[in-house]
Amino acid sequence: MRLFIAIRLNEEMINGLMSVQSAFRQRHIGGHYTPSENLHVTLAFIGEYSDPEPVLNAMQTVPFRPFTITLDGFGNFNDLLWCGIGHPEELTACVKRLRRALAEEGIPFDRKTFAPHITLLRKASFDRSKGLPGITVPNVSMEVRSISLMRSDRGKHGMIYTEIGRADAQTEGESE
Ligand code: 2AM
Repeated sequence: MRLFIAIRLNEEMINGLMSVQSAFRQRHIGGHYTPSENLHVTLAFIGEYSDPEPVLNAMQTVPFRPFTITLDGFGNFNDLLWCGIGHPEELTACVKRLRRALAEEGIPFDRKTFAPHITLLRKASFDRSKGLPGITVPNVSMEVRSISLMRSDRGKHGMIYTEIGRADAQTEGESE
């Protein structure tokens, strides 16, 4: 099965991102728009791996406190358009610990430098030299209280992401 570890987004974040996608559509920016239920922040991409159990165990060894992410501007990787969430220190630390735990368990993952983003659309048709004038990102934040192990399957109409496990943040009083 194809696995990745992600932050799932709450309804307010998803609504904010959908309003940005609508603004893109109004400006006739074409491409493969991420369906609302698939919007997420990837923390580690594992790829084909037969057994989710050790991955979940590794995730559960990662200590982190709840932290806040906030929608923050746009960016692109070639023709992939994304919305940023800045670089909160707690997020960077959590991903560093997570990737170390995966490596220690011998679980393979994509080692590309972590660039926090939420993919809004792929194969976007827009004039990069003009940027995205007049489109602003709504000021929406959420508290991250867990990270999710996701399975990715190719469906008839696109990718289907299913949460198959979760590791929670530490609560007040728990020590690292
Ligand atoms: P994204 O984070 O830029 O949207 C499931 O495939 C998720 O893992 C997607 O959200 C995808 O891109 C992300 N991902 C990260 N590295 C990947 C890789 N090497 N191959 C495929 N997907 C990857």
